[in-house]
Amino acid sequence: MSRIAYVNGRYLPLGKAAIPVEDRGYQFSDGVYEVCEISGGHLIDEARHMARLARSLSELRIPMPMPATALALVLRECICRNRVRDGIVYLQITRGVARRDHAFPPPGTRPTVVVTARSMDSAANERIAGAGISVITVPDNRWGRVDIKSISLLPNVLAKQAAREQGAKEAWFVDQGGNVTEGSSSNAWIVTTSGSVVTRPADHGILRGITRAVVIEIIKAQGLEFEERPFTRDEAYGAREAFLTSASQLVLPVVRIDDRPIGNGAPGLIATALRERFRHHATRS
Ligand code: PDD
Repeated sequence: MSRIAYVNGRYLPLGKAAIPVEDRGYQFSDGVYEVCEISGGHLIDEARHMARLARSLSELRIPMPMPATALALVLRECICRNRVRDGIVYLQITRGVARRDHAFPPPGTRPTVVVTARSMDSAANERIAGAGISVITVPDNRWGRVDIKSISLLPNVLAKQAAREQGAKEAWFVDQGGNVTEGSSSNAWIVTTSGSVVTRPADHGILRGITRAVVIEIIKAQGLEFEERPFTRDEAYGAREAFLTSASQLVLPVVRIDDRPIGNGAPGLIATALRERFRHHATRS
């Protein structure tokens, strides 16, 4: 079955879907995106993703291209036409097509909207989570507004590739103060030797992960000790557990950082329990 993409009002086979060469997303990375998990055919945490999308658009002064209700229908139609039960839906909105000029195009330029959806192998993901993953660390050389979910992801691409080349699944960015900020496509967490779950505050230095927000609610509901504060790479090396969160990976135990085993080198109890609990808390729609 051919995959279907939504592009500016039309549903097209992926191979026929196209964007004009002067799209500002293509030329300037001038756009934003969202990735939502689909579980059992349902969008997970849709309202939070749509709220973050509205914030990203407003920070970049890109108008919302259609009413939220219409966008919700497009997402569902894409999931349906691609027959996705478990997977992800990808939504990208750019500032639109205009003659190349760095400054904003004329008012009234229509943003470009693209939606795709694809299935993921949940059984394979469970196996990966059961074994835990390795992470490397790299210097955080990104711009100062990574809280905006922009499609400008070159440092993230290079970081993820560095991880791949070193046999790891994710790269954690480390800022000039030696603190871990986040992963190339996920938020970073540790559990201290005293059992406190720690993640960096959601300032301009990280993306405000939706999975992160849900996991914080779970931690609080479970009465676990929680600290929202920066942590250093050295503290991560010595942590009892480490894990990451994202809409596509959910809660994923980290068992090695820069080739050093974390805790006893196996997925931690808290990370594993949080992965389990996440399923029950995620809001379906
Ligand atoms: N990545 N930090 C970064 C840099 C991310 O790209 C992501 C998500 C997250 C986690 O956010 P959330 O829990 O809302 O997915 C944190 C998506 C999945 C991606 O780019 O594919």
